[in-house]
Amino acid sequence: MKYIIGNWKMNLGVRESVALARASLLLLRGKKIAPQMVLCPSTIALSEVRKVVARSGVGLGAQNVAVEDQGAFTGEISARMLSEVGVTHVIIGHSERRHLFGETDELINGKIQKALEYNLIPILCVGETQEERENGQAKKVVTHQIVTALKNVRPKFSETFFIAYEPVWAIGTGETPTTQEIVEMHTHIQSVLGEIFPTAPSSAFAILYGGSVNGENAYAFLRESCVDGLLVGGASVKIHQLKDIVEAACKVLIAQA
Ligand code: 13P
Repeated sequence: MKYIIGNWKMNLGVRESVALARASLLLLRGKKIAPQMVLCPSTIALSEVRKVVARSGVGLGAQNVAVEDQGAFTGEISARMLSEVGVTHVIIGHSERRHLFGETDELINGKIQKALEYNLIPILCVGETQEERENGQAKKVVTHQIVTALKNVRPKFSETFFIAYEPVWAIGTGETPTTQEIVEMHTHIQSVLGEIFPTAPSSAFAILYGGSVNGENAYAFLRESCVDGLLVGGASVKIHQLKDIVEAACKVLIAQA
């Protein structure tokens, strides 16, 4: 399987989100072989987008979740609340949350545990900064992020757990690693996961790439067997770009069928 996950970030209001969700679903219509899609609108649009994706097989993802269950945490949204409006997936530890909102690996670990407690499928984001990459620290940084985020985490291996490799320097910049660099990092992530969860079946984890994915580069990334899918930001809110990405995924899946 290949996964296309759209992270709409803070870009669309409720009406625009509903329209984009409808248009995104249409891209899958009539396709016998198609990627698994998950749409991640802003929190305010989750309920309305859920009505669009209901019974379609398309997942509904939140972009964040509180670490606490409930209480005096102004502005936070709990895992139970997300689950109540039909959310299936949740992005955790996105680079923007780490760097703009000060989220630590320890907090991210707590959020993953909370998401799993409420049967939300985590999409854990990891990735190095430009400076860390230049210092040859990329693998070390990603290893640390994964090990800390997954400390004491016991995923149910019946559901796929997502890890998205999103190098910070590639997010929204138009720059990407080479396909070879992505393959190297994904292979590294597979081995880190293998050490943490030696008995996990190979289907337990899906490793996604994210960062300046577009209609042109998607095929080259998706063609790699260690790239289980893409976490798409800017291009997921541009329907023509998303169309090309979905078609690239279909092409790869058909070739593999
Ligand atoms: P862009 O695709 O806009 O670079 O964003 C990637 C991202 O942050 C997805 O979570």
